Amino acid sequence: MQQTILVTGGAGYIGSHTCVCLLEAGYQVIVVDNFSNSNIIAPERVQQITGKTFTVHPVDICDRKTLAAVFAEHDIDAVIHFAGFKAVGESIEQPLNYYHNNIYGTITLCEVMAEAGVKTMIFSSSATVYGMNDNVPFKESAPTSATNPYGHTKLFIEQILQDVCIADPEWTVTLLRYFNPVGAHHSGLIGEDPNGVPNNLMPFISQVAVGRLKKLKIFGNDYPTPDGTGVRDYIHVIDLADGHVKALESTGKQKGVAIYNLGTGHGISVLDVVTTFEKINGIPIPYKIVPRRPGDIASSFADPKKAKNILQWIAKKTLEDMVRDAWNWQQKNPNGYA
Ligand code: NAD
Ligand code: UD1
Repeated sequence: MQQTILVTGGAGYIGSHTCVCLLEAGYQVIVVDNFSNSNIIAPERVQQITGKTFTVHPVDICDRKTLAAVFAEHDIDAVIHFAGFKAVGESIEQPLNYYHNNIYGTITLCEVMAEAGVKTMIFSSSATVYGMNDNVPFKESAPTSATNPYGHTKLFIEQILQDVCIADPEWTVTLLRYFNPVGAHHSGLIGEDPNGVPNNLMPFISQVAVGRLKKLKIFGNDYPTPDGTGVRDYIHVIDLADGHVKALESTGKQKGVAIYNLGTGHGISVLDVVTTFEKINGIPIPYKIVPRRPGDIASSFADPKKAKNILQWIAKKTLEDMVRDAWNWQQKNPNGYA
């Protein structure tokens, strides 16, 4: 029978791409989003890409009553929970806002799910939980820590969801720790549309390429990495989205909590990203080297073997695919969804 998946934050960057993969895999999708960091156009474009329709509820997950009404209206089998705030710098300025939205929002969602008898959740965690540890590649068993309120919300939510599973064995929770999602659907219809000046590398580069920003600032070239710039595990957002479908398929065989890294396992430097973007897209990216960004680590990349062995998932797309698709989206939507 066709399963119905509630996607919180389904209008956002990763959520919209995951909706495409879910619909293409034959799932029915219901989106809940308060559009605090997204645009209603994104789910419309998802319907355009897939030729399938679905309901979008403009609901805040902190609003228990309206959220419960969504569960009463639909026969939901599982929840993929993306809704939350994600900007590290902003979380330092507005900790209470982040703790409220991310943690209170998740607790409210869990309570409403339990009342409705829906006890399967896939949660968007982050490689940020590996903290300042530089012992790459990171295995899921590596020690966790956080250095900012955003990271703390991910750690706390991981803990809360583990405790929920201990208290009630009917729950099945999958914690997916994403590395660095980049790129866009190959159609160029959906992609990443950050508010204001992007904090993350790939949208910054794309906005330099399209002329919205003048120059990329590379945060440090004195790290103990092959070319001195920071090394990360960039993963195409479609591979990441596909990881959610694989995780969902696996929940039937799972008891309690499972944790998976979603990354490629390859460390790529800032300069690798810049030169690949220039080569594939034929656009020069002017840059200057500036001091390190506080809180950055030299290297972060996944050991993705657990997801490969248990979920039968691997990231298939290359860095070339990521920069091509990021540019295709940016070129077709120079001002994002606006
Ligand atoms: P995004 O901001 O594009 O998507 C989040 C969505 O949630 C947005 O559409 C926003 O409007 C919605 N939302 C926020 N608070 C809400 C609330 N209270 N009620 C209803 N909707 C709400 O972010 P994204 O990049 O798609 O990230 C999705 C999830 O993955 C987040 O939890 C984020 O922390 C996590 N994550 C993202 C990255 C990344 O690099 N993008 C890395 C690791 C983990
Ligand atoms: C950042 C967050 C992390 C969050 C992730 C996804 C910090 C310290 N970490 O990770 O918690 O989970 O985004 O939202 O903010 N870089 C530049 N110039 C730029 C932007 C980035 O040189 O303008 C470099 C960074 O120093 C880093 C690499 O590019 O080496 C990737 O940066 P970014 O895309 O911000 O991701 P993370 O720092 O890995």
